Amino acid sequence: MVIETNITKMLGIKHPIIAAPMGPFYTTELTIAVSEAGGLGVISHASDFDRPEKETWTDREATLKAMKRSMERVVEHTDKPFGFNIRTSRVQRDAAILCKEIPKFIMNNPKLKEQCIYAVTSAGSSKTLPQSKSFQKLREVSNIKHFHVAPALWLADKCVASNVDGIVITGTEGGGHQSYEEVSTLVLLQQVLEKYPDFPIVACGGFATGRSLAAALSLGAGAVAMGSRFIASKESEFHETYKKIVPPARAQDTVLATGAFGPIRLWKNPYAASHPKVGSKEEKMAMENKTTIEEFLKEARAYRVIYEGDTENGAVLLGQSIGIIKSIEKVSDLISSIVNDAEKRIKSVNSNIK
Ligand SMILES: Cc1cc2nc3c(=O)[nH]c(=O)nc-3n(C[C@H](O)[C@H](O)[C@H](O)COP(=O)(O)O)c2cc1C
Repeated sequence: MVIETNITKMLGIKHPIIAAPMGPFYTTELTIAVSEAGGLGVISHASDFDRPEKETWTDREATLKAMKRSMERVVEHTDKPFGFNIRTSRVQRDAAILCKEIPKFIMNNPKLKEQCIYAVTSAGSSKTLPQSKSFQKLREVSNIKHFHVAPALWLADKCVASNVDGIVITGTEGGGHQSYEEVSTLVLLQQVLEKYPDFPIVACGGFATGRSLAAALSLGAGAVAMGSRFIASKESEFHETYKKIVPPARAQDTVLATGAFGPIRLWKNPYAASHPKVGSKEEKMAMENKTTIEEFLKEARAYRVIYEGDTENGAVLLGQSIGIIKSIEKVSDLISSIVNDAEKRIKSVNSNIK
């Protein structure tokens, strides 16, 4: 049996489970594993950690090359659909080149054109990708759908106004980038679905179990996207030290701090304690104006060291869902157990209706 939704039909996937993008880290192997298991794997907007940071900083095409390599690897190892993320933040130096060049790259590769069906933008404007001429052309010749991440109701309004195909609704309990409003996933989903009941919505932030998938579908979402749950999987490229933080962690072991794009949910460690949360976009912009290139590179290093396993001095992005994740599992086992449990719960609730 399968759970069919507006999102599974739109994207041609078996299960309503999507891998949330997790840049600047690579999620290429994870993408292959999730897509092969019937969910939707998503390539992250990753930094090129194979080269020194100064080199990466001066090469404006570093992430473009990294993303192209990831895409090629994915279609070599699976025939299933997958997607990619571009962070369109104003401080993301390579967003424009990715929006221009990645659609061209997809268009010129028949396998990519067929399999790459989900472009998710985040952390910036929902208009940046649709305004790209090459993306407009790609849309004419492929089935690619554009989703944007909205961590607040007013951002969901902007997504709808910019004609996205769907929205990823992410509440404050989620790992990584967040909004200043700090509204929970449960409340935000209700706000958005009350206002746009027929819009394709992916629920994100705090999902890790069959119970939560059943809840999201009952609220009216068409799928869930999970980040932290997939970090703690056998196939994810995260360092073993990073993965091992998850099973013993408690839900209260994360904190909102300040990241490159604004608020960010991190696991509590000395790095998080040294980056207290800023209260507003204005405060954050004032900080950015004072940031030197050296300081920027130092911040970039906080992600590089994490990738190498230094979980004390780096930025460990994780969501409150770590409090319910108790094991590191194979992606296929994870997806089948979540879907089976969700099916059971939906049927059980249904049988309560007399
Ligand atoms: C390690 C990590 C990196 C992330 N990087 C990105 C990113 O590059 N782009 C993005 O849109 N969201 C990013 N996020 C947010 C996730 O896509 C997603 O919203 C979040 O993981 C959901 O919460 P969960 O961890 O409880 O599943 C990141 C999250 C984590 C944990």
